[in-house]
Amino acid sequence: MNKKLIYLYMALGLVATDCMADRNSITPGETWNDTSGSAINAHGGCVQYWDGYYYWFGEDRTKTVCNGVSCYRSADLYNWTRLGLALTPSGTMTDDGKDIAKGRTLERPKVIYNERTGKWVMWVHWENGDDYSEAKVCVAEADQVEGPYELVDVFRPNGCDSRDQTLFLDTDGTAYHIYSTSMNTNTNISPLKEDYLSPEEEINTQMVSQKYEAAAVFKTGETYYGLFSGCTSWDPNKGRFTYAYDMMGDWTYGRDFKDSDGSNGSNFCVDSGKDYSYQSQSAYVLPVEGRERCYIYMGDRWNSSNVGGSKYVWLPLSVRSGYPSVRWYDEWDMSVFDSMYRYKRVAQVVDGEEAYLLERKSNRLVSRPKTTLTLQDDGESNLCFVLHETERPYTYKIEEKGTGTFMTSVYGSIRFQTEAESEAQMWTLWLEEDGYYRIENLSDGKCLSVSGNETIAGTSVYLNDQSSSIHQSFALYFDSEAHLDEEEADLYSASYREENLRRMEEQEALLTGIAGVRQDVTDQLWVRVTKGVTEVEVYASEAGEARIDLVEAGTGRVAWRRRAAWSGEETKVFPLPQTHPKGVYVLRVRMADRQATKKIVMK
Ligand code: GAL
Repeated sequence: MNKKLIYLYMALGLVATDCMADRNSITPGETWNDTSGSAINAHGGCVQYWDGYYYWFGEDRTKTVCNGVSCYRSADLYNWTRLGLALTPSGTMTDDGKDIAKGRTLERPKVIYNERTGKWVMWVHWENGDDYSEAKVCVAEADQVEGPYELVDVFRPNGCDSRDQTLFLDTDGTAYHIYSTSMNTNTNISPLKEDYLSPEEEINTQMVSQKYEAAAVFKTGETYYGLFSGCTSWDPNKGRFTYAYDMMGDWTYGRDFKDSDGSNGSNFCVDSGKDYSYQSQSAYVLPVEGRERCYIYMGDRWNSSNVGGSKYVWLPLSVRSGYPSVRWYDEWDMSVFDSMYRYKRVAQVVDGEEAYLLERKSNRLVSRPKTTLTLQDDGESNLCFVLHETERPYTYKIEEKGTGTFMTSVYGSIRFQTEAESEAQMWTLWLEEDGYYRIENLSDGKCLSVSGNETIAGTSVYLNDQSSSIHQSFALYFDSEAHLDEEEADLYSASYREENLRRMEEQEALLTGIAGVRQDVTDQLWVRVTKGVTEVEVYASEAGEARIDLVEAGTGRVAWRRRAAWSGEETKVFPLPQTHPKGVYVLRVRMADRQATKKIVMK
């Protein structure tokens, strides 16, 4: 259309103005036009930043036919100009399949820059065009970021089948190829040779039997994160993340990160629509240039009958909680990142500390928009607490700063009341490996819990017994706008977890008396186990109520709990279930004014 015509059409209201105007936001799942007004055709792709511009590479498709790998350029991530094909099909189909002839399937292109060779390197999932049985990669190279990329080779990496795949360029210049293998059962990771054109022989097989695909890997501090989808072809499913401190080491799903359906790994989506990754499948995680820890989740909303017309789901991704979390936005812009890290993890709990409580799985703050506690997005209703030490180690009174009232367990419900010398206002912060706490009331053992294990805004926070199947993990965060100089925890370092594990042992030893169990059994109250550790015997010389806890040493997890009343001097016997994992435990009996502990080993 020439300009005069456009103006004429505009005057007549026949041209949608937004296709002409500069975009200044992203609308996930909507048609995204390039600067010429055509829908962007770059699926399963990736974005690289180079010399002031972002370059978006992806599958260029007409219906299901592969036209090659397209490249678009943008300075602002909203407005993309098509530069054409970076990798163009060429030549004819050969018997050995080492070609990129028209008709081949080219999927999930990933591009990285090799500083040593000064070349741009592209890896693509390659199939023969008939089916997905070849499971190969195609490697191509270029002198310029936008191409043209020349075919180097088509092969199976180290002879392994490789379908959905990605590349990750580490901060030390080592590049890795990460791909679904063994018929999409496992994920393989291999470092690339110095020229990035082929893999080293070393293979790290991870996420074994998980059937993950659509890998997208990124790094924050010393932590590598991987996002994945399940295997349901073009249909969306629930996403997953894992993490590692060493690319070639063990990747884990995280402590307690079992999903409600029992599968490993936790969902990185937290809002309504999360069970289908907001109708998308992961393609890439883009670090936003010049913004620390700010990422964009790039997903594809596939249309299987018209893959070329598939839409894009780009959303902000935060690792504030220590884990990747993606919220839904109908429309968003880069200003979302301005306050993404306003609240930062507290490095040390100190007396008088102001802190917000961040719930682990939702990445949301404990808030009180109305009368009850709920998890909410950052905003007015988030509660600022002040932690006051008590005489008992690791145990605090939790004051709500706004009202000066104290968090109290009243018959198992959370209330905010005026300060009292009561155990109902004392909360033990049981440290966990990742720096979160289980917040347990001293008087009744009830813990801050997430209703229904939900992650959406508005989810209730209530009190329940300690349980490994209920989300009960909260971390302390400070408002960096109010406390400019406060030190932040280095939660992305491997040593953070090591230090927490050490502190957990220390806490366990102190609170359960593991270091001095003998002194903790008195003539008035003692606890012991029968031979074979099948029964617990508790003796009390006087009447009273007792709570008996079997605490797992090192984690502080309560593995078994009984309550009983003594009417006078008596020995009571309780059967001990034999279902606990092997290890060291502490049996702790608490009566109103005394306690007894005994270390036991479950074999
Ligand atoms: C998906 C994969 C896509 C495409 C599709 C074909 O599982 O992630 O990239 O290969 O299968 O069915």
